[in-house]
Amino acid sequence: MRPSLASFAAALETPPSGPGAYGIRVAHQAAAIIAVAAMVLDTQSTLAHSYGGILSVVVWVFAVLFAVEYGLRLALAPWAHWAHRDEPWRARWHWATNFHGIVDLAGALPVLTLAVGASPAHAQLYGAAWIVKLVAYAPGLELVGRVLRNARKSMGGLFLGFCMVLIVSATIAYEAEGSVQPDTFGSIPSAMWWAVVTVTTVGYGDAVPVTLVGRVVAAMVMVCGIGMFALWTAILVTGFSYEMRRREFLRTWDLVARVPYFHGLGAGTIADVAQLLRPSDFAAGTVVVRRGQPGDCMYFIVTGEITIDIKPPVTLGPGEFFGELALITGEPRSATVVAKTACELLHLDLADFRQLTARHPDVAKQIEAEASRRRRDGVVRRETLGA
Ligand code: CMP
Repeated sequence: MRPSLASFAAALETPPSGPGAYGIRVAHQAAAIIAVAAMVLDTQSTLAHSYGGILSVVVWVFAVLFAVEYGLRLALAPWAHWAHRDEPWRARWHWATNFHGIVDLAGALPVLTLAVGASPAHAQLYGAAWIVKLVAYAPGLELVGRVLRNARKSMGGLFLGFCMVLIVSATIAYEAEGSVQPDTFGSIPSAMWWAVVTVTTVGYGDAVPVTLVGRVVAAMVMVCGIGMFALWTAILVTGFSYEMRRREFLRTWDLVARVPYFHGLGAGTIADVAQLLRPSDFAAGTVVVRRGQPGDCMYFIVTGEITIDIKPPVTLGPGEFFGELALITGEPRSATVVAKTACELLHLDLADFRQLTARHPDVAKQIEAEASRRRRDGVVRRETLGA
């Protein structure tokens, strides 16, 4: 009984796993898009008049499906892979209060509100929440969420500054303009609308100060608004670039840790080496290094195979390196190297090669020993071919 419930639970997870996961994923995304489109179009009177019946039927079919989906996911939570050996109620509580549980509950709102007496036309508007189901399939949004979480303190500080500018400017505008334009500046809350429109530099022009003080304040608020948006942008851009660098570093760290030449190094040293290496991917058949060209970098193979085009050819695989001869001898590349299969390589520039060998003499020794063996091998091959 348990394994079949576990596979059913896996198929219902977001994103789904197990057999048929891809199909379920596509169907789930398509369902959310079609349901939201039908709900939106049903509010357009001309369309609703011509196709109203069909659109409503589509909306309610999906509304019922999403409500059933919520019930099934809640019921099957104890069999989900993350539930381990949790008690059933604990697993269900955990799922119901996490992001996916809340999104699915919001997706069930049309049926729930209809059940408690809302009119169908009103209840179906809660279907707007179905669009959030797509979040689980957009990994980029996870990055955005992480950047916003990391930047929450500086963004919060800036938001506070934004609120202060709003309150102070609305108060001055109320004082300066209140008696002249009582309709728009007759109270601080009414003046706040002008302050928001001005600080965001949207400037609808429906509320415009006419007194000298009001205009001076408006000018200052607009300049403050531009400054704040510039700061907001700077915080987010810095956050994104930090997060991208962190991810790149983690990927490189993971790749470096898989290369046997670096196995003996501790975590700190691997982190140090990871800063020098850059991951690069090559498709099968790509020439990575061409014979006779000057060499300015060497490569470590993480996955895939490359062929050294010498007679007879040599194939190198994961954990091995190439391109070191040109760096050590300063001579042009001794052979052409072609990716035999798709490869993930770690690329080390000449300047970084010097740093690496200076900082890690044990790694330098291993590379030099292998380079000497290859040079000897090259001489033997030339002599054999000559003979
Ligand atoms: P480099 O001369 O910079 O560029 C070509 C690379 O092919 C070379 O460095 C070595 O890394 C590699 N190479 C050349 N000859 C051999 C060999 N006999 N065995 C293994 N690798 C080789």
